[in-house]
Amino acid sequence: MGSFTDIVQKEMYVFNDRADRVLALRPEATAGVVRAYLEHQLYTKKKISRLYYSGPMFRYDRPQKGRYRQFYQVGAEIFGGESPYFDAELMIVLARILQHLNVKNYIFEINSVGCDRCKADYSKKLQQFLNPQKQNLCQDCQIRLQNNVLRVLDCKVVSCRQVLKDIPAIREVLCGDCKKHQETLYQALEVSEVQFAESKYLVRGLDYYTMTVFELKINDEENAVAGGGRYNNLVSELGGPVTPAAGFAIGMDRLCNLVIPEVKKSTDVFVFFLGQRAMSDGVKIINETRSTGVRLIADYSERSLKNHLKIADREKAEHVLIFGEDELSHQVFLYKNMKDGSQKQIKFEQLSNFLKGLKND
Ligand code: HAM
Repeated sequence: MGSFTDIVQKEMYVFNDRADRVLALRPEATAGVVRAYLEHQLYTKKKISRLYYSGPMFRYDRPQKGRYRQFYQVGAEIFGGESPYFDAELMIVLARILQHLNVKNYIFEINSVGCDRCKADYSKKLQQFLNPQKQNLCQDCQIRLQNNVLRVLDCKVVSCRQVLKDIPAIREVLCGDCKKHQETLYQALEVSEVQFAESKYLVRGLDYYTMTVFELKINDEENAVAGGGRYNNLVSELGGPVTPAAGFAIGMDRLCNLVIPEVKKSTDVFVFFLGQRAMSDGVKIINETRSTGVRLIADYSERSLKNHLKIADREKAEHVLIFGEDELSHQVFLYKNMKDGSQKQIKFEQLSNFLKGLKND
């Protein structure tokens, strides 16, 4: 992932277990997928391998909106493919997922961090540009300037943003191959009507990327819902043959928060019974109507009508069903609306429909 990334420097979830072993929880899964790819020598079995995973990841950051210490990713990785059409495929798959979820307001921010050579050239250029303004950068960026200058680009500190306003874009130094890769990717996305915009500040929080990097944003939210890119060196760095690769991971917590409409407040109906016989018959009928979507909150305590109503009132119940000897003999429930005080009798066979009606009010 890179020793000078925030994920490794600041956010590793490390602790000692009971046997005093030092454990670290995985912050992401791409490196692990690469290890699995190597362990099972998938490169000898298939020219192109397409893999996916889902599971919890852990980063010891300060918990805040959309940023949890345990969160869930669903990810996909493609090994063995060099063509920009593989990069495009990943983004098209993500766009199709959004289409299924009926999300229209989304954008892929895209950049290229170049191949090794372009990255080195651009890092030098950035250092030359930033060095004279070093004192205007935040403490972290002054260190990044030496160790990992690309990461200065996505610093959110206001003074850094000010310095970065006029930075040269990496596209100005990209070599022919990297430029061609980027242009073909853009064309492929346009043909597939995937919405994207180039962002010269996008570098991503992991160091293994080469060429394409991207982040997916929904509804103009600052936090990305998914991120990914190409990493042509990682497989060989971890001991395997030179293998181009690309992938993405979706943050499921963020995606769900954005696309699942707020759960509609449930309709609560308080139920109580007056007398033993009413109780045994009434409980059966009530339990048969539990699939109507309202929450039936039964109280089986023996109390007087007055005391039951007092409690319902204290708990701010809006709807109450009362079932006593009288109701039993007439085969009805007595419904009381606690807001306006109105009452009516509901026949047994109409109870389900009546409750459904309350839900839709
Ligand atoms: P990442 O951008 O670090 O990339 O994480 C991917 C997604 O996971 C983010 O866009 C976000 O939705 C979610 N996420 C990250 N950190 C948190 C957090 N603390 N709380 C909630 N959600 C979070 C990767 O992890 C790369 N492995 C993606 C990749 C796959 N690149 C190539 N292949």
